[in-house]
Amino acid sequence: MRKVCVIGWPVEHSRSPLIHNYWIGLHGIEDAVYERLAVPPDAAAGTIRNLGGLGFIGANVTVPHKETAFAALARHDAIAKRLKAVNTIVTTPAGLEGRNTDGYGFIANLKDRSPGWKAMSGPAVILGAGGAARAIAAALEAEGAPEIRIVNRTPARAEALAADLELKSAAVYSEDDAQAALRGAHLLVNTTTLGMKGESEVMFGLTALPRGALVTDIVYTPLETGLLRRAREAGYKTVDGLGMLLHQAVPGFEAWFGVRPEVTPELRALVLADLGLK
Ligand code: ATR
Repeated sequence: MRKVCVIGWPVEHSRSPLIHNYWIGLHGIEDAVYERLAVPPDAAAGTIRNLGGLGFIGANVTVPHKETAFAALARHDAIAKRLKAVNTIVTTPAGLEGRNTDGYGFIANLKDRSPGWKAMSGPAVILGAGGAARAIAAALEAEGAPEIRIVNRTPARAEALAADLELKSAAVYSEDDAQAALRGAHLLVNTTTLGMKGESEVMFGLTALPRGALVTDIVYTPLETGLLRRAREAGYKTVDGLGMLLHQAVPGFEAWFGVRPEVTPELRALVLADLGLK
């Protein structure tokens, strides 16, 4: 059997098994299985280093283990190295290799849901400065975004992100200065948990954001966050965050099983139904 798992703590909520087992079935791969592995923090590094011994050819890594996985592994691709975080582990002839496909998933989702969108068309505004913001900032820069503007409740964390990634053109704003960040921007992305069911919403207005800008959110429960609803009602193009989850899974599946899977409306509907969303 070719066994792959998702490692997290907790991990029950992960939709990765649903996505990968759907593709396994669709492609008729009979010797493959994708499981959940709940691993507490004190066991994460050891489990990750011993993946092969546990019978796994690869894994996804989710919260809170992405940085631990980076530290536990000896080999990484360039993106994981830059982010110091791993969400995908692949067995290579040289041993286990840590990769990071979160930024790929973010960009692929925008290209899929907003055809013609290009990072290089203007400055991008990122709300938040956590792990997701790091992956997205690096991916947007790699795609040619001319400037990355980071708005964060704690500006010092945004400064640290920009310095650590050595972003070529970055600017940091407090939440109070959000309007200045939005001026002339081409993309606004929320990477915080604001807007998630049970959390408070992004509060600042969008008036300074140019008409043609795209607004997106990595939160997908609810599918349309308060930010996305306000943006849609104000006439902006919007893209929800579910596609990032679906697209980030593609490179891992291809590496483990040798088939590049597709993100289809059918897969999206399957995950939406499982989340109890429409
Ligand atoms: P992840 O790794 O999933 O991106 P994280 O590292 O916990 O998550 O980062 C969470 C981000 O959401 C941070 O930018 C955090 O702001 P701070 O750096 O100021 O902590 C932001 N965030 C979380 N809750 C928030 C809130 N209620 N208001 C504003 N920002 C919030």
